[in-house]
Amino acid sequence: MSSEQQPAVHGANSDDAVVQEARAQLTDVEATAVSVSKFRVAGASLRRPDGSPFFDASFDAQLCNAVLPQEEQAALLGLFQDHMVAVLAMRTAEIDEHVMAAVGGGSSSGGGGANGSSSGSGANGSSRGVRQLVILGAGLDMRAWRLPLEVAGPGSSSDSGSGSSSGVTVFELDSGSTESLKTRVMGAAPPPSRCRRVFVQVDLEAPEQALERLRAAGWDPAQPSVFVMEGLIGYLTAAAGDALFRRLRSSAAPGSRLVLTTPPSAAWRDELQRTRGARLHHTTFEEPEQTLARVVAAGWSGAELRTAEALAAKYGLAENRQGVIVAVV
Ligand SMILES: C[S@@+](CC[C@H](N)C(=O)[O-])C[C@H]1O[C@@H](n2cnc3c(N)ncnc32)[C@H](O)[C@@H]1O
Repeated sequence: MSSEQQPAVHGANSDDAVVQEARAQLTDVEATAVSVSKFRVAGASLRRPDGSPFFDASFDAQLCNAVLPQEEQAALLGLFQDHMVAVLAMRTAEIDEHVMAAVGGGSSSGGGGANGSSSGSGANGSSRGVRQLVILGAGLDMRAWRLPLEVAGPGSSSDSGSGSSSGVTVFELDSGSTESLKTRVMGAAPPPSRCRRVFVQVDLEAPEQALERLRAAGWDPAQPSVFVMEGLIGYLTAAAGDALFRRLRSSAAPGSRLVLTTPPSAAWRDELQRTRGARLHHTTFEEPEQTLARVVAAGWSGAELRTAEALAAKYGLAENRQGVIVAVV
């Protein structure tokens, strides 16, 4: 990253008392976003089969280092490295690939190699040129900073009404507390040329109200969107998750797509508990096929599960625990 691309950093390190005070306000579930940020940064140092990086985690690292003291980072890795780091590398790269395919860009900012090469298959096609990226349970997601979402592609001349004619508007939905960390450290806006970013405070257990707030924040349901749920659905009750799948499906314009990671299985939860006394804060534990069936039941078309094993093979890593589901309207 060149020095011109460096964002304004208000909290340069984790000694920032305001950042630590904000962090202390996080609930256990919100705090999972901080841990995941660390695993994502660690995952970025792994390599794809062709030797290229998974993605550029420079912005993620700036945020993570400002929020999480070094000794806590080391402790997290000590406990979870073998379970989480490769998982985060693969799921983040896979979702980046689908997002970039939808907005009409060929590759994400950091990776070469497999990036963008196969995401045109299956659940996509007509949705290239999407100008609305909706990230549900965004936490410390840095896609608005990391991805080249200003990329102009086929269809980019049709203004979504929610941003510039060629740029993407990124709507980040979360319960609120992680946002104060992000804005304190990074400022509210990503690098000016990247995209427009809008934070929307919601409770995703109440999808109806969440969608109303999203609309009030400028989201245009008449234009296609990419909906991303990375590491989210297991934190919602099955009933709320189903309602969210249905509500998004009934509101989404043709050409929209859904990309989500599957929740942890009960077996993974039990293994973590048994082998290292670690407790996951999820509410819903299920097999990937069950999540896929819920997406299909909510009316999404062309739903496909990229299994943990398939992703491990694609990215050349030995072990994976999470699948990625893609679907379209
Ligand atoms: C494991 S973190 C994942 C964050 C981000 N997607 C990522 O992969 O880096 C889960 C996120 O979901 C959010 N979340 C969980 N339940 C939520 C709810 N009912 N309403 C809004 N956000 C919720 C948490 O606040 C947290 O930021």
